[in-house]
Amino acid sequence: MTAQSKIGALIMAAGKGTRMKSVLPKVLHNIIDEPILFYILRAVFKTGISSLAVIVGHEGKMIEDCLKLSWPDVNVLWQREQLGTGHAVQVTREWWRQHEHVLVMNGDLPMLTPQTIQSLINEHMNSSSDCTLLSFITENPGSYGRVIRSKDNQKVSIVEFKDASEDERAIKEVNAGVYVFRVSSLIKIIDNLSNDNAQGEYYLPDVITLMEKYEYGKMKTLAFAADEEELKGVNDPSELAELTGMIIRRINSYWMSRGVRMVDPNTVIISPKAELEEDVVLAPSVHIFGESFVGKRSKIGAWSSLTNVKTGQDVTFISNVIAEDSKFEDGAMAGPFAYIRNESEICEKAYVGKFVEVKKSRVGKNSKVPHLSYVGDAKIGIDSNIGAGTITCNYDGFKKSQTIIGDRALIGSDTMFVAPVTIGDDTATGAGSTITRNVPDGALAVARSKQKNIEGWTNKKREEGGGH
Ligand code: UD1
Ligand code: CA
Repeated sequence: MTAQSKIGALIMAAGKGTRMKSVLPKVLHNIIDEPILFYILRAVFKTGISSLAVIVGHEGKMIEDCLKLSWPDVNVLWQREQLGTGHAVQVTREWWRQHEHVLVMNGDLPMLTPQTIQSLINEHMNSSSDCTLLSFITENPGSYGRVIRSKDNQKVSIVEFKDASEDERAIKEVNAGVYVFRVSSLIKIIDNLSNDNAQGEYYLPDVITLMEKYEYGKMKTLAFAADEEELKGVNDPSELAELTGMIIRRINSYWMSRGVRMVDPNTVIISPKAELEEDVVLAPSVHIFGESFVGKRSKIGAWSSLTNVKTGQDVTFISNVIAEDSKFEDGAMAGPFAYIRNESEICEKAYVGKFVEVKKSRVGKNSKVPHLSYVGDAKIGIDSNIGAGTITCNYDGFKKSQTIIGDRALIGSDTMFVAPVTIGDDTATGAGSTITRNVPDGALAVARSKQKNIEGWTNKKREEGGGH
């Protein structure tokens, strides 16, 4: 049995998070485009631990719904009344007692890496401790619990800030809120907590102090110091913003180490779920959200935003391209000022240009929609050119209908396609045509009123004393 299979991870998220001043529970606040909880769950899963539970309480239904949707394998445990972190662990014992060890952690630690969790577990296993906790050393220990080490460094205990003496408050090593407990030891102690303290709460860290003092046998407690930056928690909106900035920088550095280039990484935002290949170049203010993928040598121009977008290789977004839930094949090009959305497909070397909106449509290989068009619910074949200002009139006020355009079509500027309508291969339309009927292969369709010239009209008007 591997170490990980004996460990359950218990994430505490039942607290109110009062300082966020929000109706949303703290762990559901987003960093980039994923909730804080996402980062913690991902870090734990990456260590290979597969048995996870989240303790919910305050606005717990929201967290439960979010977990059901995105992490159905994670158990949801309720702490109906929030009487402190020790109480949270008391009321969930039926779950954690099934494991040999339990990793318990505060829910608001998005920076924590799988490597650090793994080091903590290794330390715990190798030292055969009853509890090993993560600590960090900081110049601003603030209201964190202080780590008190025995002289021989064999034992630690924790004192909460509000209960600490002046001398204890001067200690710079603090409790991060991440612990591994040996279950057989925790079960002996967990009911001995009292709430006779400054906050009237059952403190989980008191378990460590009790272990240290444990009369029935010798219990071993250990503090494992890690990097402060990784253990920063989120308590208020300003810390949320600070951590968001740190995570953005961490993600950008990672992709740069994999060969992605950024003109100004300070303005680039990449989702933790996105993936980029080498030689991708990102201009300033590029935002890549959701499960996006950007293929080799693609260039994403300034002020472009991609959400759940997959690109092939050598794709170019000139600038100001907003793309959502869509696909771009190798060599496709878009922008400036293009909006592509709802499962659109821009095929190999196709181009969607200036002030063009494409919705739920396919633009075939080598085809071009260069200027000022709306292409909605349409399929455009290969090697076709759609003139400036062409619009698919896809909505009659009741339902959406399709426009199908074949291969090698030459669509005149300002053509209106009143859908449903099908235009064959090798066709053309006259500029300004309103196409309401199908066009057969090889035909030119002209559908506009005939021009009439009225000779001498201007002079006549002037003689009548008209305007110009
Ligand atoms: C806790 C630790 C403190 C440590 C700090 C690190 C305690 C008593 N103190 O303090 O030593 O330095 O974390 O950030 O644990 N929660 C519940 N149920 C409850 C109360 C809290 O699930 O009844 C959850 C919260 O949602 C949160 C976590 O436990 O995710 C920590 O609670 P919080 O009140 O923020 O503890 P701190 O005061 O930060
Ligand atoms: Ca906290």
